[in-house]
Amino acid sequence: MLNIRYEYTTEKKVKPDYSKLGFGKYFTDHMFMMDYTEGQGWHDARIVPFQNLSLSPATAVFHYAQEMFEGLKAYKTADGKIQLFRPQKNIERLNNTNRRMCIPEIDPDDVLQAIKAVVKTDEDWIPEEEGKSLYIRPFIIATDAMLGVHPSHSYLFCIILSPVGAYYATGINPVKIYVEPEYVRAVKGGTGFAKVGGNYAASLKGQEVAEKLGYAQVLWLDGIHHKYIDEVGAMNVFFVIDGEIITPTLENGNILPGVTRDSAIQLLRSWGYKVSERLLSIDEIREAADNGKLDEAFGTGTAAVISPIGELNEAGKVMIINEGKIGPISQRLYNNLTGIQWGTVEDTMGWTVAVD
Ligand code: COI
Repeated sequence: MLNIRYEYTTEKKVKPDYSKLGFGKYFTDHMFMMDYTEGQGWHDARIVPFQNLSLSPATAVFHYAQEMFEGLKAYKTADGKIQLFRPQKNIERLNNTNRRMCIPEIDPDDVLQAIKAVVKTDEDWIPEEEGKSLYIRPFIIATDAMLGVHPSHSYLFCIILSPVGAYYATGINPVKIYVEPEYVRAVKGGTGFAKVGGNYAASLKGQEVAEKLGYAQVLWLDGIHHKYIDEVGAMNVFFVIDGEIITPTLENGNILPGVTRDSAIQLLRSWGYKVSERLLSIDEIREAADNGKLDEAFGTGTAAVISPIGELNEAGKVMIINEGKIGPISQRLYNNLTGIQWGTVEDTMGWTVAVD
């Protein structure tokens, strides 16, 4: 159990207009911080006013990107209760990432306590309208000031909070996705399964090209054959082909094991749908589109929730999915998942965790 020290802000911020939140632009009054030093372990847990960090220009994270992050959300229900959605899954992934990145693990109970404590401290920032939530961004950076390529001996763990609306400007309306023809995001043996900034840095070039062509995000193909579907920039991806719901398998280790991905699979199976976690090639998708069997496609993610895909562009070949409209499976998933999160649908899976 952490002994958290509190230092409250003396100057509370003016809250933004909650009807124009967007994603990740505003930050609350406080943040959580905790240090790691070799020999001492994780120590000095504290909740302090939201502040800039002061670090040596030689700090390891700036040069060799030894860092990690997570993303989850807090919701306020109609009766004023605060709840988290499957935080244990994020915390488990946090430590999986830490192991891959040579960052010392953190006791899962301590991470949950820290998340709850900082959310509780800034609970007045949690949006009350359905569709909006408080995004929780835990992250860890290597803080040794040294230029040798070596795991750091010291780290900083922070949790910052941001009231958010929809990730995409289009909201729940279908997004247009560009199939990346050249760059790759991850390969087997790399860090694709881990939540690290480097994966996202590597994705920016493809994203930039896609955006210029009017597409919201990139669909990544695997790094070896450049043929199998991996994931979309900020979300996992599902395709419905001739009644079968298919999402890429996690087995190769190049895809992020999304919490929303796992929740979608469990919900769909509980409703009797066949969900396959397997290799899915872009050829199979193209063929299905040509034969009128590509029924639906959608992305899943904490930030993106359930995001229908209305159009795919593969090397100039445009595939319109479900006439560019949200399909029945995507809609049902969205309604149920967000219903559980905002407390309007019964949580029969036991996924929500109260913040008291
Ligand atoms: C999330 O869905 O929480 C993510 O981390 C995706 C993205 C905003 C990087």
